[in-house]
Amino acid sequence: MTALITFDEQQGVFHLHNRKISYLLALEEGGVLSHLYFGSAIDSYHGQLRYPRVDRGFSGNLPGHTDRTYSLDTLPQEYSASGDSDYRLPAAIIEHADGSRAARWIFKDYQIVDGKPELAGLPQAFVEDKTEAQTLIINLVDEVSRLELALNYTIYRDRAIITRSSKLTNLGSQAVTIKKLASLQIDFVAKDFESICLPGAHANERHLTRAKVTAGVKSFESRRGSSSHHMNPFLALVEPKTDEFSGEAYGFALVYSGNHKFELEQDQIEQTRLLIGINDYNFSWELKSGESFQTPEVLMTYSDSGLNKMSQAFHHIIRDRVVRSKYKYQQRPILVNNWEATYFDFDEEKLKPIVDDAKKLGIEMFVLDDGWFGHRDNDNSSLGDWTVYKKKFPRGIKHFSDYVHSQGLKFGIWVEPEMISLDSDLYRQHPDYLMQVPNRKPSPSRSQFVLDMSRPEVQENIYQQLSHVLDQGIDYIKWDMNRNISDVYSLGLPPKRQGEIYHRYILGVYALLEKLTTNYPDILFEGCSGGGGRFDAGWAYYMPQSWASDNTDAIARLTIQYGTSLAYPISTMTAHVSAIPNHQTGRKTPLTTRGDVAMSGVFGYELDLTKMTVEEQEAVKQQVAAYKEIRNLVQYGEFYRLKGPHEGNQTAWMFVSADQREAVLFTFQVQAFAQGPLTKTHLAGLNPELIYREEKTAQEYSGAELMKLGIYDPVVHQDYTSKSYYFKAID
Ligand code: DGJ
Repeated sequence: MTALITFDEQQGVFHLHNRKISYLLALEEGGVLSHLYFGSAIDSYHGQLRYPRVDRGFSGNLPGHTDRTYSLDTLPQEYSASGDSDYRLPAAIIEHADGSRAARWIFKDYQIVDGKPELAGLPQAFVEDKTEAQTLIINLVDEVSRLELALNYTIYRDRAIITRSSKLTNLGSQAVTIKKLASLQIDFVAKDFESICLPGAHANERHLTRAKVTAGVKSFESRRGSSSHHMNPFLALVEPKTDEFSGEAYGFALVYSGNHKFELEQDQIEQTRLLIGINDYNFSWELKSGESFQTPEVLMTYSDSGLNKMSQAFHHIIRDRVVRSKYKYQQRPILVNNWEATYFDFDEEKLKPIVDDAKKLGIEMFVLDDGWFGHRDNDNSSLGDWTVYKKKFPRGIKHFSDYVHSQGLKFGIWVEPEMISLDSDLYRQHPDYLMQVPNRKPSPSRSQFVLDMSRPEVQENIYQQLSHVLDQGIDYIKWDMNRNISDVYSLGLPPKRQGEIYHRYILGVYALLEKLTTNYPDILFEGCSGGGGRFDAGWAYYMPQSWASDNTDAIARLTIQYGTSLAYPISTMTAHVSAIPNHQTGRKTPLTTRGDVAMSGVFGYELDLTKMTVEEQEAVKQQVAAYKEIRNLVQYGEFYRLKGPHEGNQTAWMFVSADQREAVLFTFQVQAFAQGPLTKTHLAGLNPELIYREEKTAQEYSGAELMKLGIYDPVVHQDYTSKSYYFKAID
């Protein structure tokens, strides 16, 4: 196989390359590893274009070196340490037995291997066979402490994707404490960057937020024990001129669901350092002699033509090589979920008519949400007791699931396995399973508390309970997490190791998920955390889809789904039609608009079908039928953002099949105007030479016309409208 990674011994330069991208790093004087380039593909590198040496005042030099122009403080490096003359943020801080925190990473050796070695216990991108990627492992060593740091770089043959992570091994005789260990460092020489991140809140997730990178430090992070609604583990660095179709974009997505931190520093000479990894907030990890610590992985991509190309690279790698479920390429069932229909107020008899109507309308799965277990009539009790609530299901869950199956629907169920209520048998039997700091009262959130998932016995208890539930004829699980973690302390570890708990918590959850998904491969898992509070690439490794937000309002969803699509594939993003006035915003939007927004993701309903009028039910039937026509295209086609909700009154996006013979376009307008200007939508991703027929109107257009002339948006005198178009190529 042709090499994807080469090492020029004379120049001391490593080159990771494929037809799309190149990444160059070099050995410098004193064994320092410097960063040369990340960007579009370069065929060959001759080694002359190196970082110039300049004497910068107050930027010190390497010990024993007299050259004042060579300083770690300015050199773009692959991985930095603390305690030397690089005053920028360090990638690693390691405390040694003598209390010192210095390290110097010196090149030791390297290996190039076919494929991609597995990272134990962590979610990650994988390869299906060893020819699709190569991995460079560079071993650096801190000679004094005998710590060895492996930098892992995998480049895929046919993707604009490099994955990076680091692994620290203690070859010394004494234990050390890791205070910080980034997965990745990348230093850019002066560049006029803007950052794009995805902050938000519960029911208001992942808003595309763009800002100029200026002098100083800015961090984008979660300290909530999960990847969070508040700051998604994704960042892009772009040029000021970058838009959806042009300009450079560097994208980074961390494959991790716990506390994360993305740090950006613009230094004294306007160079940019980016560090990504586990958040160092309340983090420390004891690394004994002989032990290793593996950091989570970062997916990196580079696009020379805008944000859509960056997103598409992420969509493909996450869908093809992070998601493992057997459902990864399967059309996902259209479901109805009873949460917004009934909240906690239901029983078997009340739900059956919803199931019956769902069948009539062509819906394929019924999901029983929160409230079916313990004695749960509100959110104050029963988390931790995964046994049926007899008052609501006198003949058990299996009896109800049999009913749903007899109607020809699949049956799914909601669980929140990481949580515990004070009013629960689990708490009465095992009060110590509740995570809390000794002698302090833990903080409730939604009246519930967090289980100490870092402890294997807690994981096992929940596994046993869940496996009993899963044996009751269950086809789908919605795995929720309705609060963030606080009062972090574990009885499973000694006092001086409490800094390990945040990370051990998520490793514990991953271990439980690994066991469940391995032993129940036929179950379709959907992630959820009060909506989209844990929407990250790590979670996608275990669950092929996640509930994007508790906000089901069509207009609010435009922003949420647009932002989510920056990093995550449409097949991972679930979206449902709900009732009006919307329960989160009070807004009344037409059923067509609600349908078009939800049909732009993995589709379903979140309302009481039995309360709809005959006309509304007929409209639902048509929506369901229409979605079945386009489902494969939406879930697995190429996604293009055309107009963003952050830019104005309109949003537009489209889906194109791999052979470019089919496309679906959705356009949305928030406000109507009396005498507004005419607007157009220019399509993308089509074959300019093909002739497409729009299925509803039978009008024909060439791909070039649709992309270059664009189609006029309808003039509608109503707020919150949408329009869909379905194009098929004709021979
Ligand atoms: C939050 C989820 O996002 C909702 O869909 C619903 O499942 C509730 N939790 C139930 O408590």
